[in-house]
Amino acid sequence: MVQASDQTPLRVALLGCGVVGTSVARLLVEGRDDFAARIGRPLEVVGVAVRREGRDRSETLLPPEVFTTDAEGLVTRADIVVEVVGGIEPARSLILRAFEHGASVVTANKALLAEDGPTLYEAARRHGVDLYYEASVAGAIPLLRPLRESLAGDEVSKVLGIVNGTTNYVLDKMDSTGQGFSEAVEQAQALGYAEADPTADVEGFDAAAKAAILASLAFHSRVTAADVHREGISEVTASDVRAAADMDCVVKLLAICERTRLESGDEGISVRVHPAMIPRTHPLAGVREAFNAVFVEAQAAGELMFYGPGAGGDPTASAVLGDVVAVARHRVLGGLGPAESAYADLPVLPMGEARTRYYLSLEVADRPGVLAQVAEVFSRHGVSIQQVRQNVGEGEESSAELVIVTHTATDEALAATVREISDLEVVVGVTSAMRVEGE
Ligand code: HSE
Repeated sequence: MVQASDQTPLRVALLGCGVVGTSVARLLVEGRDDFAARIGRPLEVVGVAVRREGRDRSETLLPPEVFTTDAEGLVTRADIVVEVVGGIEPARSLILRAFEHGASVVTANKALLAEDGPTLYEAARRHGVDLYYEASVAGAIPLLRPLRESLAGDEVSKVLGIVNGTTNYVLDKMDSTGQGFSEAVEQAQALGYAEADPTADVEGFDAAAKAAILASLAFHSRVTAADVHREGISEVTASDVRAAADMDCVVKLLAICERTRLESGDEGISVRVHPAMIPRTHPLAGVREAFNAVFVEAQAAGELMFYGPGAGGDPTASAVLGDVVAVARHRVLGGLGPAESAYADLPVLPMGEARTRYYLSLEVADRPGVLAQVAEVFSRHGVSIQQVRQNVGEGEESSAELVIVTHTATDEALAATVREISDLEVVVGVTSAMRVEGE
C-alpha cells in the first residue's frame, strides 16, 4: 500500500447531528482504516456541532467530548467541514467562515445552494478550497459529479427526473390504492416518509431547489430556486390519477430542465417542477415508493438514467462521504475540484414559453355542436389536438365525458385554452387538466 509520508490526520468538523449527521459520523468511525488507505492520510472527527448538548449520541460511535454547541469556533479548527444542518442561516455564515479559515466544505444543503450558490463558489475560489455537494440532490445517487465532471465534455439537452421521494411515495400510493391526496399523505406521515409539516415536499419547494442545482450544472448557467416554475401535488386528485390510469399513464412530480431554442433563434432554458402524466412504459413510471430517478439526455452520450434512494441517513451519508474522500484527496495530493461553470449564461424562460402537452378531461353537454365549440378554442390558440375520445352517458339530456390530449404547444397557449374551455356554456366542468411528459 502506498502511503503519503505525512500521516497527520485531516481534521473533519461535522455541523449537525440529525439522521444524516449521525450516519456520517458512524460510517467515518467504522470505515476509519479504509478511508485512511483511500485518501493517503487518516481522517479525524475533531468536533460535531449540535444545538443542544447532553443527548445520547452513542449511535455516532464518537466520544462525548467531541460534541459542542460552538459551531463558529469548530469551523476554524478543521481541514474539512461537513455541513448537514440545512437551511440558509446559520449554515451560510458557517460555510463562509470555514472557507476563510482554509477549510474545504462538503454540504447537503440544497436550499442554500439553490438560493446563493454563486456566493459560496466565489468564496471557495477566493480561498483556494473545495465546495462539494453531491448529497444535495437525489441522496445517494451519483448525479452531480456525472454532470460536473463525467459529462463536462458533452452538451446536456434535458434533465428529467423524480427528485422528491415523499411526493413519489404519495403519488405511488394514490395510483396503487385509489386513495385521495390527504389520505395518502397521512399514511406517508404515519410510515415516516413525510414530515409532520409536509409543505416543503408536497408543494414542490424541495424539488425546485434541486431542479435549480441540476439546471445550473447541466447548462453552465446560474439558476436559482426563484427561477424555477413550481407546482406541487396538493391539487392532484384521485380522479386525476384515475384519468392517468385510463390513459395507461401515471402521475409523477417531475423536475424538468430543458435547453430550448426560441423562434427568434435564441437559446434559453426552461426549468420547472410540476405534476405530469407519463406513460406507464416510460422508465420513470416504474420508479415506485420513495425512490428517485433522473433521466439525462446529452448530445453525444444519448439517454442516461440514474436511479436509487434519494433520502435517508446512510444513503445520504454515502454521497457526503464520497465528497469527503474527494476533497481529502485534494488536500493530500493537491488540486481542486471543479469551480462554478456559468459561462453559457443562458436565460431562464418564463413558464409560458415552455413547450408542453396537456391532457384534458371535460364533462360536456351531449348535444350537436359541442365538439365544434371546444375544437374552435384549441384552433384559435394554435393548439393542435393529438387525441379525442368521447364517453357518452345514459339518457336523452345526458352529459358526455370528453378526453383530449394535445400536441406540444407553448404552456401559455395551452393554459389559455384550458381557461377558455372551462368558461364555455356547454362545458359542465373540467374533471382533470394535467401536463403530459415523457413521449
Ligand atoms: N424530503 C426529501 C424527499 C429528501 O422527500 O425526497 C431530502 O431532500
